Amino acid sequence: MNLSRTLFIVFLLFEGNFCQRVVSTSVIYDSKALVIDGKRRILQSGSVHYPRTTPEVWPEIFRKAKEGGLDVIETYVFWNYHEPVRGEYYFRGRFDLVRFVKEVKQAGLFVHLRIGPYACAEWNYGGFPIWLHFIPGIQFRTTNNIFKKEMELFLSKIVNLMKDENLFATQGGPIILAQVENEYGNVEWAYGIGGQLYIKWAAETAVGLNTTVPWVMCAQEDAPDPIINTCNGFYCDLFTPNSPSKPKMWTENYVGWFLAFGYAVPFRPVEDLAFAVARFFETGGTFQNYYMYFGGTNFGRTAGGPLIATSYDYDAPINEYGFVNQPKWGHLRDLHIAIRHCEEPLVNANATQIFLGKNLEAHVYHKSSKECAAFLANYGNFSDATVLFKGNSYFLPAWSVSILPDCKNVIFNTAKVVSQTNLDNDALTWNITMHESLLSSSPWSWYKEKVGIWGNNSFQASGLLEQINITKDTSDFLWYTTSINVNEKIKKNQTKEAGLLIGSLGHASLLFVNERLVGFGYGNHDDASFMLSVKVNLHSGSNRIDVLSMMVGLQVGLEGEFLGLENLTLANSSIWTKGSAMPNNQSLIWYKTVFLAPEGKAPVSLNLASMGKGQAWVNGQSIGRYWSSYLSPSTGCSESCDYRGTYDASKCLKKCGQPAQILYHVPRSWLQPGENLLVIHEEIGGDPLKISLLTQNGQVICGRVSEDDLPPTDTWEPSVGFVSTIPELRLACEPGWYIASIHFASFGTPEGKCGAFIPGSCHTNVLSIVQKICFGKQRCSISVSEAKLGDPCPDVMKKSLAVEALCRALE
Ligand code: GAL
Repeated sequence: MNLSRTLFIVFLLFEGNFCQRVVSTSVIYDSKALVIDGKRRILQSGSVHYPRTTPEVWPEIFRKAKEGGLDVIETYVFWNYHEPVRGEYYFRGRFDLVRFVKEVKQAGLFVHLRIGPYACAEWNYGGFPIWLHFIPGIQFRTTNNIFKKEMELFLSKIVNLMKDENLFATQGGPIILAQVENEYGNVEWAYGIGGQLYIKWAAETAVGLNTTVPWVMCAQEDAPDPIINTCNGFYCDLFTPNSPSKPKMWTENYVGWFLAFGYAVPFRPVEDLAFAVARFFETGGTFQNYYMYFGGTNFGRTAGGPLIATSYDYDAPINEYGFVNQPKWGHLRDLHIAIRHCEEPLVNANATQIFLGKNLEAHVYHKSSKECAAFLANYGNFSDATVLFKGNSYFLPAWSVSILPDCKNVIFNTAKVVSQTNLDNDALTWNITMHESLLSSSPWSWYKEKVGIWGNNSFQASGLLEQINITKDTSDFLWYTTSINVNEKIKKNQTKEAGLLIGSLGHASLLFVNERLVGFGYGNHDDASFMLSVKVNLHSGSNRIDVLSMMVGLQVGLEGEFLGLENLTLANSSIWTKGSAMPNNQSLIWYKTVFLAPEGKAPVSLNLASMGKGQAWVNGQSIGRYWSSYLSPSTGCSESCDYRGTYDASKCLKKCGQPAQILYHVPRSWLQPGENLLVIHEEIGGDPLKISLLTQNGQVICGRVSEDDLPPTDTWEPSVGFVSTIPELRLACEPGWYIASIHFASFGTPEGKCGAFIPGSCHTNVLSIVQKICFGKQRCSISVSEAKLGDPCPDVMKKSLAVEALCRALE
């Protein structure tokens, strides 16, 4: 280790009777990498946004991130929830940033704190507090003194909070990196010279805060020194920083994509994701962050951007419920281990690029005559290839990278997935993995919302108004009430047909004529504006027209919101109507019931498939907006998407012709033993008696490994090679769960996939062998060899073992 580079400040802290040693960690950078305590590092990072789950869950996510081979946790800081009212700060519960950072440290990981304060992130108003909008003379994200003053105040508030808690690396904390602004480079041109001056100012201001760790700006080609400009995108191998003194870093590597109501569900095959990561490190990258590693949930009204759904699962390696998403989590873990084995040559040598054929190349890193690492890439979409490298031949599937930590042995190929697969719990296995109980037998009551302006805090205006200016984002709803006079004489009990046309800039509206619902209009994520055109029947004289303009956000809000119907305090109020005649399929209605909390610790969700559009609360906490009646287009999906070739957010979609989301996560920590209050506000019409409560009480897991697959990457030892050359099929259940049964186990040429394996023409039933090794275990490993499993058909060269098992919590 280069000691001259290493800065150790060791001091003692005395607290009561015991003392704790605080070790300061220095963080600088050079042209190659971040240099931590004098050592250049390869770092794998993952985004976890603290308010998108509950604090009780943070430690388990970080534990899984650590086990998955991450070094760093990245988060934005969400200004609007930390300073909801100017000058009044909030850092509690899901917004306890200090606790979050300390938990990351506890798990042995570093932190990249993206303070912004602009976040984007499909977060309400991009993270800006709404009050900012109303400061006279303010202009966001440009060289405007009023904005700059507020931005500086918030940046220093956060930096000082972190300093006071000793959370920067130099203070013994986990924070090694900070971000100012976010992807400003994409919009800078629109601000002209003001944009350039602003970026210069933002850089100087950030550096002036003296965090003692490096700052980055993402997607910002002109990031001023010493700020590192970083890449965001699906691939970043072609990226170069704006100065030779800065390392090549990737701050947003999209593991999938976000979900919007009315859209199919995006996913990104792990073979492509691993390929993108391997190409990045192959071409000199040294820091990479998965956006998201755990996406979580947009609780309450935190989702931002038109029609963003409540689930922010993102097809991340850890799913919305905190379970590992396999094979993504496992394959990336294997990849991280393989790259870690190349760390020394990668950070200390320059690459030699070798042409190996069309779309084929190698990058070789020679640290010394003894230490050498190589990456072999086939970046063609279609053709597999065999290449010759240093006298040996290597098979390279199309769109894949092989990693050779000694320039000789392949220990990982991005297209070869040997890690476990989990079945989605909404697939074939629903009945065995989900415990579903209908809430129809629960005692329901309801409250019918008034149509139109209901209180005396309304005002008059001509025409429709800009919604945020009026609601100040305190509600999604804005009522307009007007009337049309029909002068013509129309016979009693008869009406005249007329056409009504509403043009809206978004996101949805309900139209009532004489208090009857006559129309529902809505936009979509890409274009939230819409026209609502309906034929209506008017009678003679005055006809009342009410329009409820909704944001997914002139009277602000609904009466029910004003009353606070979602709150526990009103649970027993007589405002609610009880009875057997529950109104069904009604617009603007509130429903309430109580349900018993499911026992145990397993994930809980509400199935709101029977409902239209609205919001739901459990014990007064909003679990988010729902919109089950908005189906995605029926075409464009490919259940098995070819990972080969350039990925984009619309390439791989599932759930066409279905709602984007029907299951809504209810965090365990929001439930209490015994009775829990559920309040639903339905806007357009649904059937609450079909709502069910779901607990995931099992998981179907599978593995499929062939005799000629590689042994697991973690059995590679630098000076020894693979400890054993035999591949392994490994299975693991979530902590606290155990393998309760084996559904399928065949050695030979099994066909099909997880959930639908069938024996092939060559088959030995190895159920009893697998059962003996795995039954009752949380995890198990089976060697894939004839010696262990028998030899069903000696003339078949490449036999595979396929296993399907069920995990359950021990009763
Ligand atoms: C990026 C942005 C992120 C997030 C992402 C899409 O452009 O920086 O905050 O919004 O897009 O999920």
